[in-house]
Amino acid sequence: MPTDPLRLSGNGIDIELPVMEGSVGPKVVDIRKFYAETGMFTFDPGFTATASCESQITYIDGDLGELQYRGFPIEQLAEHSDFMEVCYILLFGELPNKAEKAKFLADIINHTMVHEQLHRFFSGFRRDAHPMAIMVGVVGALAAFYHDSTDINDPHQRMVASYRLIAKIPTIASMAYKYSVGQPFVYPDNSLSYAGNFLKMMFSVPTTPYIVSPTLERAMDLIFILHADHEQNASTSTVRLAGSSGANPFACIAAGIACLWGPAHGGANEACLNMLEEIATVDRIPEFVARAKDKADPFRLMGFGHRVYKNFDPRATVMRDTAHAVLEELGVDDPLFDVAMELEKIALEDPYFVEKKLYPNVDFYSGIILRAMGFPSSMFTVLFAVARTSGWVSQWKEMVEDPRQKIGRPRQLFTGTPKRDFVQMDDR
Ligand code: CMC
Repeated sequence: MPTDPLRLSGNGIDIELPVMEGSVGPKVVDIRKFYAETGMFTFDPGFTATASCESQITYIDGDLGELQYRGFPIEQLAEHSDFMEVCYILLFGELPNKAEKAKFLADIINHTMVHEQLHRFFSGFRRDAHPMAIMVGVVGALAAFYHDSTDINDPHQRMVASYRLIAKIPTIASMAYKYSVGQPFVYPDNSLSYAGNFLKMMFSVPTTPYIVSPTLERAMDLIFILHADHEQNASTSTVRLAGSSGANPFACIAAGIACLWGPAHGGANEACLNMLEEIATVDRIPEFVARAKDKADPFRLMGFGHRVYKNFDPRATVMRDTAHAVLEELGVDDPLFDVAMELEKIALEDPYFVEKKLYPNVDFYSGIILRAMGFPSSMFTVLFAVARTSGWVSQWKEMVEDPRQKIGRPRQLFTGTPKRDFVQMDDR
């Protein structure tokens, strides 16, 4: 929606830039004609002030600590919805009625198995490979197995690819785990919920019947809901950028998984748990807090801070309550939880963290819950990827269907050596 333009003058220019208004959130200056009219680029490393696209999927108010999928507050979705319904909301924008939900579920579970040949793909990896390395490889390889859903110009193929990715990602994730521990792969069980099926594929063995614990199933579903989407974060922007070239959706999601792996993004939950293990006892917390504050030390308190949330992370609030409930229900007395609670208390009172608005983020608590549920820390980011696939495919689909979509091609401020002549080896 247009509003009063912004007049920019100085440095030899005097132009009016259109200003756009979304349904909520800050206004946006439209700089698409800026270079053509001024010969200048804009400079914004890390995209801290740049809207890279128009989107209708997820809204975050970082100051108020609000997160909404298609307008629905995350707290309400966490309390009343389930992950499959959240996937539907992200993909289609509205709440499904009973019939729509049942059909969606049937469509998804139709795709939970992976091509049998894909099983052999795993044996090419070392057993000690990080499961995220396997995820990047195997999800990218899906394009080699499902040729009938790689034509991005066909809406039906786009939808089938989206369903396949959401359906197969837990299967692949659990296979990566099973491979690492040397246990047989467990086929999906379509009589179970998305979360229940995932737990069964992760933790059951052929010799013993596996009963899904309703507490763990609910906690897993909640973790999936909270991580499903987060507007234009690094991995989602990676998916969009990869997709902007016309790359197939399997390749794009593999690119998103690669980006998610980093410790500043999805890898933070694993890094956070490793950090808690390193701290180990409450009396060592001040030492680590001091290190986090020391400019000369690259150490950061993992699980603290967020690019967008500068007040609190609403996902962390839900996760904190769940952490308490899960540990209580499972009767787990984890000393790391005590370390985490004390660290949270100390950091929240410390002027350094208060002034910089560094609050615990979702990853601070998710590691504790996942550990109590029996997941090794190397699987934490994989679980994030399982959940975020729903957001990635929704954002990818929105981008491909946007008539204004162009290949992503940022510019640069060049500070290297200007043009010079090559010198022959003997003359150097
Ligand atoms: N511990 C200590 N200092 C910190 C931390 C931290 N965790 N996070 C930021 N700071 C300091 C930083 O040193 C800088 O100080 P100064 O202004 O004096 O140079 C200031 O706070 C601003 O930091 P920044 O890196 O410019 O902020 P950013 O918005 O670019 O980074 C972040 C956000 C999440 C990458 C960062 O806070 C961080 O590295 N946190 C730890 C990793 C983490 O938990 N990541 C998970 C994010 S939530 C999951 C997800 O959505 O991916």
